[in-house]
Amino acid sequence: MKAKLWSGRFTEATHGLVDEFNASVSFDGRLYRHDVAGSIAHAAMLAKAGVITSAEYARITDGLRKVEKEIASGAFVFTAGMEDVHMAVEARLTELIGPLGGKLHTGRSRNDQVALDARLYLKDELYEIITLVHGLKKTIAETAAANIETIMPGYTHLQRAQPVSMGHHLLAYYEMFKRDTGRLLDCLERMDEFPLGAGALAGSPYGLDRGLGARLLGFARVTENSMDAVSDRDFIVEFISAASILMMHVSRLSEELVLWSSQEFGFVELSDAFSTGSSIMPQKKNPDVAELGRGKTGRVYGNLIAILTVMKALPLAYNKDMQEDKEPLFDTIDTVKSVLRVFPPMLASMKVNRAAMRAACDAGFLNATDAADYLAGKGMPFREAHRVAGEIVAYCIKNGKTLAVLGIGEWKGFSGLFKADIKNAVAIETSVAKRRIRGGTAIANVKKRLRTVMTELKKGAC
Ligand code: ARG
Repeated sequence: MKAKLWSGRFTEATHGLVDEFNASVSFDGRLYRHDVAGSIAHAAMLAKAGVITSAEYARITDGLRKVEKEIASGAFVFTAGMEDVHMAVEARLTELIGPLGGKLHTGRSRNDQVALDARLYLKDELYEIITLVHGLKKTIAETAAANIETIMPGYTHLQRAQPVSMGHHLLAYYEMFKRDTGRLLDCLERMDEFPLGAGALAGSPYGLDRGLGARLLGFARVTENSMDAVSDRDFIVEFISAASILMMHVSRLSEELVLWSSQEFGFVELSDAFSTGSSIMPQKKNPDVAELGRGKTGRVYGNLIAILTVMKALPLAYNKDMQEDKEPLFDTIDTVKSVLRVFPPMLASMKVNRAAMRAACDAGFLNATDAADYLAGKGMPFREAHRVAGEIVAYCIKNGKTLAVLGIGEWKGFSGLFKADIKNAVAIETSVAKRRIRGGTAIANVKKRLRTVMTELKKGAC
């Protein structure tokens, strides 16, 4: 085995078990493009500071690009003995261009290098994730648009409560995912700082132009404290928190799809392409995609707890514990992306059973509040009106009736305030139409909100 890049003060070789235990290259290998980009920016700072000549800069950058190509093509394969992606890239560079490769690490440490690579990588992924969230928001808005006039029961305590437009119900998710986009953008904005130049912890002594490196890599700012720069992982914690909230929303939507597609509800039917069968029960059509959306939320929450626990109580500055930041980060990115890819086509291909939703509205006394509101509108205190309407519901349940079929004589038996127009007042459509208050479910409102939403979506993902 080759000597380690840091083996100068060592007399014994690393134990094989330690090589395995210490290595991160099996998972941080995915940072290689960002590692190469960061090294090229570092080489530019070294050249500007006069640490390397422009000819050396050209040879180093050519070599780095070659390493990148070799990794991409599979010609260069990582092994545990290489320790991490930073060592692997530098070792291969040195093989390719000779001792000059050893100049690249001047004024740099793996501590600021990994802080840079993780930021660069996450920035790229954040743009992708924000674009995928945009796709989900778009599908939700389109499904809402197709169902503005689909009336369904709205629930509280999972008990039928008041009728709502399905478009309104779906747009609630639009608002949630819109806030998620905001959180991801906040995270992106806060983490947009260039850490190179921090060195191991105290700052590099080579007069590097940090602004140049930041510009080359597209960072908005440079970090202002070298110790913070190498030990900060808040950006990972913040991203996984935002991802956890996003997944919480995915999970609530998933749960509704699972319920709605059950035979008990029968509100929607997921397409065959987005459902699975049972290996034993031939009649089954299972909502596995929605269930996995719900289930995968657990692993993202787990990742959040993992990174918070790794970071808690670490003294400044870098500690090797921090290598444990990567798997939660990568797993969160992979999980969130896989969910965001599969949900839009699942939603777009879902069939809505309008008749079942409407029938559930008729059967559930969803208009009982409207009966109480009717009396309140005639001057009866709402508390009393609530009691009277409750008595009417009890009467209906006892006699197997709904409010819609009650005769005017029956209404009047409960209160002299009821007139013939009570029929229309408790119609499900009236109940929805009356909720014209801003943010309410009236069809006109939902249409108006959708117009704004469509304009927002046209402006792009951010
Ligand atoms: N693989 C390491 C990590 O991910 C890179 C930094 C190592 N720094 C060190 N001083 N050993 O955290």
